[in-house]
Amino acid sequence: MSNATARAYPNIALVKYWGKRDETLMLPAAGSLSLTLDAFATTTTVELLDGASEDVFSLNGVAQSGDSLARVTKFLSLVRELAGSAQHAAVTSINEAPTGAGLASSASGFAALAVAAAAAYGLDLDRAALSRLARRGSGSAARSLVDGISVWHAGDGDETSFAEPVTAPEMSMIIVTVDARQKAISSRTAMRRTALTSPFYPAWVESTEQTLAAMLEACRDQDFSRIGRITEMHALRMHALIQSADPPIRYLLPTSVAIFDAVVALREAGIEAYSTADAGPNVAVISRPEDAQAVADALEQYGTVRIVGAGAGATLIPNPIDPSLEATA
Ligand code: DP6
Repeated sequence: MSNATARAYPNIALVKYWGKRDETLMLPAAGSLSLTLDAFATTTTVELLDGASEDVFSLNGVAQSGDSLARVTKFLSLVRELAGSAQHAAVTSINEAPTGAGLASSASGFAALAVAAAAAYGLDLDRAALSRLARRGSGSAARSLVDGISVWHAGDGDETSFAEPVTAPEMSMIIVTVDARQKAISSRTAMRRTALTSPFYPAWVESTEQTLAAMLEACRDQDFSRIGRITEMHALRMHALIQSADPPIRYLLPTSVAIFDAVVALREAGIEAYSTADAGPNVAVISRPEDAQAVADALEQYGTVRIVGAGAGATLIPNPIDPSLEATA
């Protein structure tokens, strides 16, 4: 196939990934766990070009250059190496989430790119291999290959560091977008700085493996309350860690903190909800599906609120540009 299209959704971590032990292979310092969403999709077409001397990348209709193009080219070079190909490609991506605002657009972006590029270059990869490939573009993308809740194993090397599904109770996520602008410092840069300068980093890495084990047990027990408590604790722990870098980095805005407080107040009022936030000011709140609307109503004063649920892992879709080129999942 010389042309393939894939769709992927972002994921929000309930046990966070923050720090790498190998930047080339993109191996995380610890495992993590997330919910793949059913909204804010990225749809990406990879088309192999005859006789082109470089790759081209368009995002939401805008031709990309600089770092954005360089990351895609680097990823495609890896795919070319695996496929034994020298052919360049045109990548066309539509991202429905506000890019860079902590809604993990790099996760949906590289998950969709991994699936589309593997198909376009003729690689026959299973889910685990696609997850490992997506990881090379952006760590959290490894988890967007999986439906619903997924665990990304730290692994002991490239072969064993991939995401796979976890059975957990059904939950909703209420996303409160406080600020949709591009974040000032990318997760990758901030992660590196944290690992190099925070005196708390070793404790974070060690304790995250314990947190993940506790979370997997809570999922196995279908215990939503325990899942929620671990989620909120681990998010605050990550933000405390990031703030302890030198120079410090703070992603949460006063409004983000107000949302964490409002969610505590909701619990005191008998509605069980728990907050988390990625590398940005937006807050994602989990609740049981039957409570989602009440949580959304309580939080809409703080920003744009959207209720989402568990979505599908990245998959090929029929090419929207040329429907005669039917892709198969
Ligand atoms: C805060 O996956 O974007 O969202 O691997 O360098 O591309 P790179 O970083 P990225 O970091 C995600 C950080 C996080 C936590 C998480 O998703 O687990």
